[in-house]
Amino acid sequence: MKELTDAPFGINLPLLFLRDENMIRFVAESGVKFVTTSAGNPQKLIHILKEHDIIVYHAVPTVKAALKAVEAGVDGLVVEGGEGGGFKNPEEVSLLVLLQAIREKVDVPMIAAGGIVDGRGMAAAFAAGAEAVQMGTRFVSSKESPVHDNYKNAIIGAEDVGTVVLNKKSTPCIRALKTNKTLEIFEEGVMPKDMFAKIRDLYFGGDMEASAGLAGQSAALIHGQKSVAEIIEETVTGFHNICDRMGRFAKEKGF
Ligand SMILES: Cc1cc2nc3c(=O)[nH]c(=O)nc-3n(C[C@H](O)[C@H](O)[C@H](O)COP(=O)(O)O)c2cc1C
Repeated sequence: MKELTDAPFGINLPLLFLRDENMIRFVAESGVKFVTTSAGNPQKLIHILKEHDIIVYHAVPTVKAALKAVEAGVDGLVVEGGEGGGFKNPEEVSLLVLLQAIREKVDVPMIAAGGIVDGRGMAAAFAAGAEAVQMGTRFVSSKESPVHDNYKNAIIGAEDVGTVVLNKKSTPCIRALKTNKTLEIFEEGVMPKDMFAKIRDLYFGGDMEASAGLAGQSAALIHGQKSVAEIIEETVTGFHNICDRMGRFAKEKGF
C-alpha cells in the first residue's frame, strides 16, 4: 500500500485469522494510524496497538459486543447490521435498531455498516446516531474492484431476497449470494469446513458455485458498476441533498 499511495490508509485485522501476535506487532510498527479489528474480541490485543497511538475501531454485531469493546478501550465502533455482507453474528440485529440501541448506551463514534450503498443509507445511519458509514458490497461491485465480472453481475442482479445467511449453528456464520451451492448448504444447515478453499476460483475465476460469494442485502440497491470516485461523490452529494430537505422540514415545521 505504501508503494501505491502517499495518502493515509487504515488496516483491518480480522482477529479470527491471526495465528499469533506478530501480525498485530507488524501492523503496530508499520506507521499506520487507524486500525479496525473484527471477527473476535479485541481485549487481549488492543494494548499492542494503543502503545503505538493507533486509533482502534472494533466491528460489533450486538449491544453486548459493543459494551465489551468499549470496556476493552476501543476508540470507536464499526456497527454492523445483520443485513450486511460477510461474517455475521447468527443472531441478526438490523442496522437501524443496532445503531439506536448502542447509541443509548455508549458515546464513542460509530461507523455504520450493512445495507448502505448511497446518500439515502448514509442519511438514515446518521439519523440513527452514526458519524460515518462503511460499505462492503457496493465497493466489491465497483469498477476498480479486482473481482470477476460474474461476481459483480451476480450482485447487480440480486433482489432484496438475493442473499442467504449460512452456518448459523457453527462458525463462521456468513451472508452470501444465493446460488445452487449456498442454497444447498442453507438446507443442510452446516457449511463444509473447506468452504473457502476455492474462494479464488469464485472471486477471480468467476465460478459462482466454487465457494460462497459474500454480499449483503444491499445488493438489491446496486444496479450497475460505478467507479469508486462516483460512488463516494454521489453518496456525499445525496447525503447533503437529503440533509437539506430534512433541514427544510425542520425549519418550516412542515409535518
Ligand atoms: C466480500 C466481502 C468481504 C468482507 N471482508 C471483511 C473483512 O475481511 N473484514 C471485515 O471486518 N469486514 C469484512 N466485510 C464486511 C464489510 O466490511 C462491511 O461491514 C459489510 O460489507 C457492510 O455491509 P454491506 O455489504 O451491505 O455494505 C466483508 C464484506 C464483503 C461483502
